[in-house]
Amino acid sequence: MTKNPSALFGNQDKYAGRILFGPYSARLKNSLISSIDHFKALEQIGTPIIPYIAAWLPEDGGHIWYEYAGARLTQLLGFHTTEVAGALRDNILTRCLYRIQKNPPAIDKIIRDKAQIERLRDAMRRMAERGGRVDAVYKFNVNGSPLWLKDLARVEVHDQDKIVLSYGTLIDVTKEMQLEETLVEVQCELEFHKENLEFLVEDRSRDLKKAQLDVLARLTQAAAFRDGGTGAHIKRLSQYCAVLGSSYGLSRNANTVLFHAVPMHDVGKLGIADSILQKQGALSHEEFEIIKTHCQVGSDLLSEGRSTLLQVAQAIALTHHERWDGSGYPNGLVDRQIPLASRITSICDVFDALSSERPYKKAWRFEDAADEIWRLRKTYFDPNLVDIFMKNIPQIRKVYQEAPLG
Ligand SMILES: [Fe+2]
Ligand SMILES: [Fe+2]
Repeated sequence: MTKNPSALFGNQDKYAGRILFGPYSARLKNSLISSIDHFKALEQIGTPIIPYIAAWLPEDGGHIWYEYAGARLTQLLGFHTTEVAGALRDNILTRCLYRIQKNPPAIDKIIRDKAQIERLRDAMRRMAERGGRVDAVYKFNVNGSPLWLKDLARVEVHDQDKIVLSYGTLIDVTKEMQLEETLVEVQCELEFHKENLEFLVEDRSRDLKKAQLDVLARLTQAAAFRDGGTGAHIKRLSQYCAVLGSSYGLSRNANTVLFHAVPMHDVGKLGIADSILQKQGALSHEEFEIIKTHCQVGSDLLSEGRSTLLQVAQAIALTHHERWDGSGYPNGLVDRQIPLASRITSICDVFDALSSERPYKKAWRFEDAADEIWRLRKTYFDPNLVDIFMKNIPQIRKVYQEAPLG
């Protein structure tokens, strides 16, 4: 005899699942009711754990619904229990798995963005069915603010009822993850400063350094000429980046490294055929795929460098087409996985490409180009750096007006 499900749910707390009133065994229903009972009691004692019970049919293409979700989840995400599955799916930004490696000891962090999650949904569901558990950290966008939830779930396959149940607990780890992001940022900064310090104190004569910079400048100019430019683009680019870098808080020395490294961002175009590089009109899919290789080519060209300058230049060459939301290339990195120097470069590179004339396009008005940068905040670009860019519009305009055109 199945227990009465309506006794479990008050008026404001409607049952939104399918099992209790569906064609399932009494055993499954009773076990579900006991679990919900248990979870409700857990919630009443004020635990920070948010329990949930998710369900799916293995033959239903991965459509997940919730038999139960702790009230705090709906508070955190700001929607009603019946909308849990849809709201979680719509607002998810990333899913992060931690894998512990024993030899050498390390923690691998595997981050998937929304598009990857969509693509891998079926495979992830099957993996959970086989492995019997889920252990991941999800990042959601709740009205523009990040929310991180750690998910620990036990997955049960009920063969008789042809259904899978996932008994899970969520913990709000937003504060911890924000701290981790800040730490990563600080670490990047420290490395940048440390390398930069080496660059400054290494025991080499000024002349040698100047000769090195001259050679690099010529190499960079060669790439710019082949790309149909006059070299003015890279001069403005360095200056825009320096404005952003110093306003961001980079030391004068770090900014000097950035200033000299940025012009090498497209040096990999030396490896792309003229017929593609100077083609008038739209590129085919294949041609664009070849253009995309300039990041890796540039990185390879700069990879042997032992100086900090070349190391920063290599990182910029490899990652200046990555985007904040993970839709860039070549590696689909997301947010702070992209080095700070590249996040600065990509904003200034796009701004200059828009606001200057190219063989294939007219120059956009300064204001329109700036609006476009603002529009791409959070998709292409680091929102924090876009804010800094906007704050510095007067200095950006000064560079724009004073630097040579072309
Ligand atoms: Fe590029
Ligand atoms: Fe560029």
